[in-house]
Amino acid sequence: MKILILYFSGTGNTYFMANKIRNELYRWDYDVYLYSVEDFQPIDTQNFDVLILGYPIYACDMPVFLQAYVNQLTLPVTKNVIVFSTMGIYGAKASLKVGKRLINKGMRPLHFEEIKMPGSDGLVKFRWKGPSA
Ligand SMILES: Cc1cc2nc3c(=O)[nH]c(=O)nc-3n(C[C@H](O)[C@H](O)[C@H](O)COP(=O)(O)O)c2cc1C
Repeated sequence: MKILILYFSGTGNTYFMANKIRNELYRWDYDVYLYSVEDFQPIDTQNFDVLILGYPIYACDMPVFLQAYVNQLTLPVTKNVIVFSTMGIYGAKASLKVGKRLINKGMRPLHFEEIKMPGSDGLVKFRWKGPSA
C-alpha cells in the first residue's frame, strides 16, 4: 500500500507532525512518501493508494492558497484521505469545511485529527531586534 503524506508547514509544526506520522508508518512497514506541497505536483496523487493531508489552521480554515492546491489534487486509488491539522488555540469548524470540500471532490475522508501546538500567528507581532548588547 503506497501512502502519500502531503503537507504545508509555515513554521515547522505541521512538518514535525507529518514526519512523526511518516516514521510511525515506516515502523509498520508501509510504503510511505512524505512531501511538502511545494515539492509535489497535485496531479500526481493518483499514483498513491491513500493520501494523508496536513496543514496549519489559518483563520479557522485551511490556508487559502492551499485550498486552491487541494482543488487540483487527483484522487488516490482508494479515494481515501486522512486529514490532520495543527493549530494554536481554536480551529472552529475548519475540519468540517475541509471535509465537505474533499467530499465534493470525490474523496473519502476517513479521519480528522486537530493537534494543538505553539501558535505561529503571534509571530506576526514579534519583531526581532537582534541580540541584546
Ligand atoms: C496567518 C495565521 C493564522 C492563524 N490562524 C489560526 C486560527 O485561526 N486558529 C488557531 O488555533 N491557530 C491559528 N494559527 C496558528 C497556526 O495554526 C499554528 O501555529 C500551526 O501549528 C502552525 O503550523 P506550521 O508551523 O506548520 O505553519 C494561525 C497562524 C497564522 C500564521
